[in-house]
Amino acid sequence: MTAQRRLGIVTLVVMLALAGWSWMLLRDAGQRDRPTGIVDRSPLEKALAVHAQPRAPIPPDPTNRLADQARAVALGERLFFDETFSSSGTVSCATCHDPAHAFTDGERTARGEAAGTRNTPTILGAARRRWFTWDGRADTIWSQAAEPIEQPAEHGFDRTRFAVAIRDDPGLRRLWEAACGPLPRALDAVPAGLSARPALAGEAAHAPPAAAWSQLPVDQRAAIDAVFSSSMKALGAYQRTLDMPLSAFDRWADAVGQGTVSMDDESAGGIITPAARRGWLLFSGKANCIQCHGGREFTDGEFHNLGLPAPDGRLGGDPGRRGAIARLKTDPFSSAGEFSDAPDGAEARLVRSLKDDPETWGQFRTPSLRGVALTAPYMHDGRFASLAEVIAFYDTLEGAIALDHHREAVLQPLGLTAPERHDLEAFLRALSPERLSGSLESAG
Ligand code: HEC
Ligand code: HEC
Repeated sequence: MTAQRRLGIVTLVVMLALAGWSWMLLRDAGQRDRPTGIVDRSPLEKALAVHAQPRAPIPPDPTNRLADQARAVALGERLFFDETFSSSGTVSCATCHDPAHAFTDGERTARGEAAGTRNTPTILGAARRRWFTWDGRADTIWSQAAEPIEQPAEHGFDRTRFAVAIRDDPGLRRLWEAACGPLPRALDAVPAGLSARPALAGEAAHAPPAAAWSQLPVDQRAAIDAVFSSSMKALGAYQRTLDMPLSAFDRWADAVGQGTVSMDDESAGGIITPAARRGWLLFSGKANCIQCHGGREFTDGEFHNLGLPAPDGRLGGDPGRRGAIARLKTDPFSSAGEFSDAPDGAEARLVRSLKDDPETWGQFRTPSLRGVALTAPYMHDGRFASLAEVIAFYDTLEGAIALDHHREAVLQPLGLTAPERHDLEAFLRALSPERLSGSLESAG
């Protein structure tokens, strides 16, 4: 065989193979285009299957060495409900995160020592979040607690009085030392009644508590910070025990996953109402809420700008995520900060890699929708009193600011019928546990 003929045969074989392959591709494409119920439904079935899996435990927190220690939980619980740590002696974490209100306050915006500007989120399940608060300026549940203690509108307190209160109360001191070890010696020299803390964001360095802080000897400051940060870690340990219980929706998803109920069964096996089942189909289908509220916790854990207008119809005044990254990067209590127990861990590396970006102006964290029926009012500023109002907003986007590139392109008016709105609400209600009390007995 000449080289030329051999080349000819090889070329022929390659051409035949290519022809056969393209025929197969065309045939497959044709099949894909053919509308069959199964092909249309599978994304919904996949979305539901996520909820049929056993729920993962609350993830570990390597930045907090006390995260899972029983004595730290006991100390944290005491601190959470103790009103000593406030300027008037009347505010505790539970003032706003009240167990009787699913660890919220039921108010539009929070009120501690003074009026705040944001709505109080629940603590239930909070330890599952990647970022904390509406703008994500904290990256661990324990570090989040440092801010309300010193904020004038919340506890209006300071770390020095906090540490001294523990030193001078024998019962509290015993609890503290059992959880965290002996109090640092240098704390003994700190005068009782001294109010001192670093300057707050935007506060002058000569403001009284900030000036007093800069005058304290370095070893006393270090002792106060050590007591304060360990106390925050104990608060974190306690809050890690507060999970949002599973709901009727989880039981239905589980039954569908087990094959005992079909997703198409309109009665939903009697586990959730027919309206809630239809609401789920809308949520994951036509209304596409799962774009942001997807996954096991019904949140993407990310930040979005929904274009919510201020009361005067103009752009809202809360910058949201804008600026939060800069604060996180300089926060000594962050996972990358000097009090972290894993300053080189994955969380810390993520914080160091974040970039503050003007595009994040007006973005807020997508809240989890678990237990949402228990935590009215809604949104970062509590503007909507009911779930019906939230749904009406998404349905019409009435008043929403079209911020050209700022507002999410994914939000489009949905044009729901009245029964569809009702179904969507029934679904959101099915995400809330029927009872909280039983599962929260340990919450004190
Ligand atoms: C005056 C009411 C008030 C008090 C007191 C208060 N909080 Fe909060 N809490 C809020 C508000 C409001 C937010 C949302 C803040 C924001 O987005 O800027 C919040 C957010 C949180 C979050 C984040 C939850 C999430 O889903 O991101 C945690 C955790 C938390 N608080 C724990 C505590 C602890 C612990 C204490 C006590 C040391 C405390 N809070 C005291 C009102 C309060
Ligand atoms: C583009 C992402 C996105 C989409 C799509 C979306 N949401 Fe949201 N959702 C958010 C964000 C962000 C917030 C918080 C906004 C704020 O506070 O300013 C929120 C808030 C909510 C709240 C209030 C929860 C609370 O605790 O305050 C509910 C309820 C809700 N969404 C339901 C829905 C429903 C139902 C749909 C579908 C019709 C939907 N969302 C679609 C991002 C989204």
